[in-house]
Amino acid sequence: MPAPREHLPLPFTGPYLLAPMQGITEPVFRSLVLARNPPGILGGAFTEFVRVTNHPAARRQLRRHLGERRFTAPVGLQFMGSDPALVAVSASRAVEVGAPLIDLNFGCPAPGALASCSGAALLKDPRALERMVATCRAALPTTPLSAKIRAGFSDDSLLEDLARAADAGGADLLTVHCRTRAEGYRPTRAWDRIARAVSSVSIPVCGNGGVRTHDDLDRLRAATGCDFIMVGHGALADPWIFSGHRASTAQAARFLLDYASALAAEQAMGPTKAAARVKQLLAHWTAGGLVDGERQAWLRERDPRALLKHLEGRLAEA
Ligand SMILES: Cc1cc2nc3c(=O)[nH]c(=O)nc-3n(C[C@H](O)[C@H](O)[C@H](O)COP(=O)(O)O)c2cc1C
Repeated sequence: MPAPREHLPLPFTGPYLLAPMQGITEPVFRSLVLARNPPGILGGAFTEFVRVTNHPAARRQLRRHLGERRFTAPVGLQFMGSDPALVAVSASRAVEVGAPLIDLNFGCPAPGALASCSGAALLKDPRALERMVATCRAALPTTPLSAKIRAGFSDDSLLEDLARAADAGGADLLTVHCRTRAEGYRPTRAWDRIARAVSSVSIPVCGNGGVRTHDDLDRLRAATGCDFIMVGHGALADPWIFSGHRASTAQAARFLLDYASALAAEQAMGPTKAAARVKQLLAHWTAGGLVDGERQAWLRERDPRALLKHLEGRLAEA
């Protein structure tokens, strides 16, 4: 393990974090989840990744990702790119427009990311990962920096090297998604890999992967000794997963109705697109027993107004 070094304090207000999810964790969804879990429990969230290709990201784009509303719990801005200098300039701009933390994506398995040598592609080369972290660190003297890795590219043989590379590059937090790139999003709970990362680095570790219930949060922490826990799919199924509140059917329906109306109001999204986003959650949804036995019927509904009517019909149920 590298010798402990000074690292910047992390801004999180609690131990659990909402995972970055492209196409989902834009400001509307994030705000609804942050508003429903106390900040002492849900301690932070992340934007979807901002991809940096040929130019540094524009400040306007970064402001849009951060959104206008602020909560007690901070929202970190995530970048994915292959050119450390361009990502570092983008990260400095993000800080200028108010990002309290910068996160670097070393896990995206999408073909586009791999073809441009970003995201999970850097899992093949710990030195390239270290260079990316170190270049961003140098550009962000006072802003906490985190690195989010998967357990490896094809297998987990480089896990410790990757974890130490993030630490040596100057990250203040390491998030470990326990699946490899090759494992995609397969249902696995290889939490021993998170424990291996914890014993390889001197910085705090956030464990991620396979948390499906509120009780899993304690299980993951007990199994790994990690400092923070990040939840993705589990929060799509139950946005209250962090606090453990058992939502009623009406509360679950209210969440989805608020989601649809905020997408229309804040993102000028038409009814068809907003309904598609609601269905994206319904595909995973468990909260309040709202879709029990009816999931496929809800997902097959093609009329956006009828979908909202179904939800409104469940508002009165205890
Ligand atoms: C639809 C979707 C989009 C995702 N987008 C991102 C992303 O933008 N950045 C990132 O680092 N991880 C992304 N992830 C991965 C999640 O942050 C998380 O690491 C992964 O889902 C494992 O956690 P879970 O088992 O709790 O879902 C995405 C996952 C999903 C399902």
